[in-house]
Amino acid sequence: MTILGIETSCDETAAAVLTNNTDNTSTLLSNTVASSLSLHAKTGGIIPEIAAREQLKYILPVITKALEDGVGFSLTTTKKNDIPPIDAIAVTYGPGLIGSLLVGVETAKTLSLLWDKPLIPVNHLYGHLYANWISTNEYQGPKISFPALALIVSGGHTDLVLMKSHSDITVIGGTRDDAAGEAFDKIGRLLNLPYPAGPTISRLAQKGDPKAFNLPRPMIGTPDFDFSFSGLKTAVLNLVKKHSWDFTDTTFSQNNQQLLYDLCASAETAIVDVLVKKLIKAAKAYDVSTILLGGGVAANTKLKQTLHQTASNQLPGTTVIVPPPYLCTDNAAMIAAAAYFTKDFPQESVTADPELYF
Ligand code: KG4
Ligand code: ZN
Repeated sequence: MTILGIETSCDETAAAVLTNNTDNTSTLLSNTVASSLSLHAKTGGIIPEIAAREQLKYILPVITKALEDGVGFSLTTTKKNDIPPIDAIAVTYGPGLIGSLLVGVETAKTLSLLWDKPLIPVNHLYGHLYANWISTNEYQGPKISFPALALIVSGGHTDLVLMKSHSDITVIGGTRDDAAGEAFDKIGRLLNLPYPAGPTISRLAQKGDPKAFNLPRPMIGTPDFDFSFSGLKTAVLNLVKKHSWDFTDTTFSQNNQQLLYDLCASAETAIVDVLVKKLIKAAKAYDVSTILLGGGVAANTKLKQTLHQTASNQLPGTTVIVPPPYLCTDNAAMIAAAAYFTKDFPQESVTADPELYF
């Protein structure tokens, strides 16, 4: 089955073509992402109206490129009855920003009608889960055995998800306030780093001392599988206020580079410590065979290293799988991959749902 995936839930406009293999993995034929992120970098967050307008600008060029690269079908030179060699169209219908979601959903509906192809609505969060099932040149199709435990860590979500099978998926824990990515982004704002701050904090942290500041690890020892990150952000805020550090002042920043590196390293380590501790605890409690990561924060090198190390020490029989970074951040390949496993979903009327959850 060959599926065209479309993803427009936030600030990325993405399309991809994926074909499914007999061993239940998927091979990526093309993957195109356009991002309006640079427009949001200075405002410190996404402005929904701007994101939606950019989605409109990019949606057709992105789909055109994905079909050309993936199946050699050209939308621009297409004749009246030409139809691309795909079996279905998958589209993210939530959660996300309503204006952005609508661009993808309405485009997908139109193409589905025009080409007479089934339309498969996909939950963005399932997309992050199923990024783990994609094989690429550098990553040859994982052998995932159930039960599997996934940690979805993105800008809006921190969810621990237990997968007993493709049809038995439950959330066993989540954040009570800020998501892990949100914590990176809010701490970055206090340090005057561009949005989204996760990748920058991670890069600067490499030159810092993770023990320089003793930041809190909220809820690290609680018996549940929940998270809380707003206290960590407040701790950094209090530190910055107490010392009157002003990272918006260029002279101050230039004279205090090591301070910035140390703050980044301390904050990153605090976030990673909590995520790994709870993930390992849940993996033990549910005796899982596989641990999966997904979402933008799963691109974080420190998180991956710490997880691999801790799992090999404490859970030697458990396989840890992390998709390559470009499949962790938002993309349409993961939407097409998820569609393959949820293709029986009723599809008479697909409506964007900004508040969708598991
Ligand atoms: O999954 P994603 O691309 O979009 C959402 O669905 O939210 O995740 C975006 C989040 C942002 O908060 C960003 O700061 C974070 O992922 N992120 C990272 C890294 N790359 C992206 N956080 C830490 N380290 C990274 N390398
Ligand atoms: Zn996402």
